Amino acid sequence: MSQLSMFKDTQVFLPSKKFSAAANLNKQKYKILQKKAEEDYVKFWAELATEHITWHKQFTKTLNENSHPFFQWFEDGKLNVSYNCLDRHLKNTPHKTAIIFESDSGQIETYTYKELHAKVCKFANGLKSLGARCGDRVIIYLPHSAEAIIAMQACARIGVIHSVVFAGFSARALGDRIIDAKAKIIITADEQRRGGKILPLKNEVNAALELIGKATTVEHVIVQRKTGGETWLVHGRDLWWHDLIRDQKDICSSVWVTSEHPLFILYTSGSTGVPKGVVHASGGYLLGAVMSMKWVFDYKPDDVFWCTADVGWITGHTYVCYGPLAVGATIIIYEGVLTYPTPNRFWEIIERNQVSVFYTAPTAIRTLMKLGAELPNKFDLSSLRLLGSVGEPINPKAWLWFYEVVGKKQCPIVDTWWQTETGCAMLSTIPGVNQLKPGSCNFPVPGIIADIIDEAGNALDNTATGYLVIKKPFPSQIRTIWNNPGRYINSYFPQSIGCGKYYVAGDSAYKDEDGYFWILGRIDDVLNVSGHRLGTMEIESALAANSILAEAAVVGKPHEIKGESVFAFVVCKGGNTRPVGDEARRLEQELKDWVAGRIGSIAKPDEIKFVDNLPKTRSGKIMRRLLRSIVRNEEITQDVSTLENFTILEQLKN
Ligand code: WT7
Repeated sequence: MSQLSMFKDTQVFLPSKKFSAAANLNKQKYKILQKKAEEDYVKFWAELATEHITWHKQFTKTLNENSHPFFQWFEDGKLNVSYNCLDRHLKNTPHKTAIIFESDSGQIETYTYKELHAKVCKFANGLKSLGARCGDRVIIYLPHSAEAIIAMQACARIGVIHSVVFAGFSARALGDRIIDAKAKIIITADEQRRGGKILPLKNEVNAALELIGKATTVEHVIVQRKTGGETWLVHGRDLWWHDLIRDQKDICSSVWVTSEHPLFILYTSGSTGVPKGVVHASGGYLLGAVMSMKWVFDYKPDDVFWCTADVGWITGHTYVCYGPLAVGATIIIYEGVLTYPTPNRFWEIIERNQVSVFYTAPTAIRTLMKLGAELPNKFDLSSLRLLGSVGEPINPKAWLWFYEVVGKKQCPIVDTWWQTETGCAMLSTIPGVNQLKPGSCNFPVPGIIADIIDEAGNALDNTATGYLVIKKPFPSQIRTIWNNPGRYINSYFPQSIGCGKYYVAGDSAYKDEDGYFWILGRIDDVLNVSGHRLGTMEIESALAANSILAEAAVVGKPHEIKGESVFAFVVCKGGNTRPVGDEARRLEQELKDWVAGRIGSIAKPDEIKFVDNLPKTRSGKIMRRLLRSIVRNEEITQDVSTLENFTILEQLKN
């Protein structure tokens, strides 16, 4: 379908009068904000930062534009992010529920703001007792849990830079991150439970530290006892979480850090084999999280806010840990998977907890849709008032199902486009103001000056496809890549697109006739599998490290539920020894497990095809575009005249 016909057919939905009347932003307020931002975006952010953040020392400098592209926001201001998330609610709402945690096996724990504050303080004191100091790096390798939030907030409280590593990553992937961050402490659990299965965590940490060997910077490993499974602790290095906090005080004063002090590093995939450590700064990131809670999620004090993302990803940082707590919300944290023990799990959680805002990913929506409308229809979902989607473009069919079956046509859907690097939602419906167009992320939120450009940097007319860029700095943006400022510049301010002037998101997109933004997908070698970002090169290097393989090429293949699946073409060592039949099936499984071991199960190829050779140009470059066309069963339209080994095409297509 051409893009034009795609949006011409699109239905448009209006937010209900009831929703609009109560919304934080109405048309008039929204227009005023837009106008202010257009006139002077620096002043615009300065006013918001003054009003919505509690500063220990008020900033006097808002932005130094001369430092392009290493922007600094509110640089002489001092604050503490954990203070903003916890202490500032203690006076008015100490007994309000902050967290409702539901474990995989169904146990429920709740924490009020006062209780959470005490737990964070105790743990922060524990970290200090182990020698953690402002600026040190701590790795958090925990399941999606209240403890993960406590650990993150405790780090923020004492200026320690945390790096959460998704608990599904393997020992090797964890080890790479420990080395890059030079982490002093690791916080983990004995094991985790997901979908009824028990998965080791401490064992993975042990294996990671064994791989690192003498080069280790890790002084301590803190282990939360979660399942009680057998766990091996190294004397002097490892200790139990409960032993660490036993004698700690439940008061720990916040360390006031400068606004630019890094709050966290979060590793994400790029176009090379090595993940990038995205660095976020304290003040600007917090402001972005808070404003989007109010504008995009229309936060109200009696909301029960459920963002289903794991803390291991940026969505879990911004819309589980920091944004909701900074505005004093009640959040749901659910440890498990959506179909366990029954496919009703999500609906049960919404009904039981009277969830009002439900924010999830298209892949989850498509899974729920496939299970059938009978399931949600059996539950009382009338507490819902707003729905959200993130991670990949949502197809109109899934959008409509979400809108009609889950939201009963009463809840606006906010389709939020953003990235690990942008820290918070950049393009989104403002519910109560904008019309909804299924599949479009609407417009940039106030203060974000985004556009579509061509390579030379010219703004494109509506309906033309180009590069999505953000033209002016914004507070929540990535500050640098840890240990690699050069890669930061090359990745996000490349000379090749817009001459290094703008933040280049790495997505292609267009605006429709009405100026609505539509995201088409990544322009780099990055896959989006179930909303998880994976580098093709990362998977290729993992495969190539296997001794039976000579080389590998990985491409994304459209997938009904996951959005994209991982398809690998592999060449065995020793010429034409392409395995077939049972042998091929056995090796395929072996290679899948191998990738799970090197990176994690999320990166496991869905399909592996053994071939004699990969399509290459005469200069030896793998023609990935050609492979992409092949797995999509598309006619090959690109120029194959530079293809060195033309005969391989038939074998690849079979
Ligand atoms: C990439 C960023 C930030 C949340 C989770 C992913 C894609 C994200 C949307 C959306 C279309 C989207 C983009 C982006 N993406 N949200 N609403 N519509 N595409 O974070 O892992 O850093 O991935 O996800 O391609 O560049 P991430």
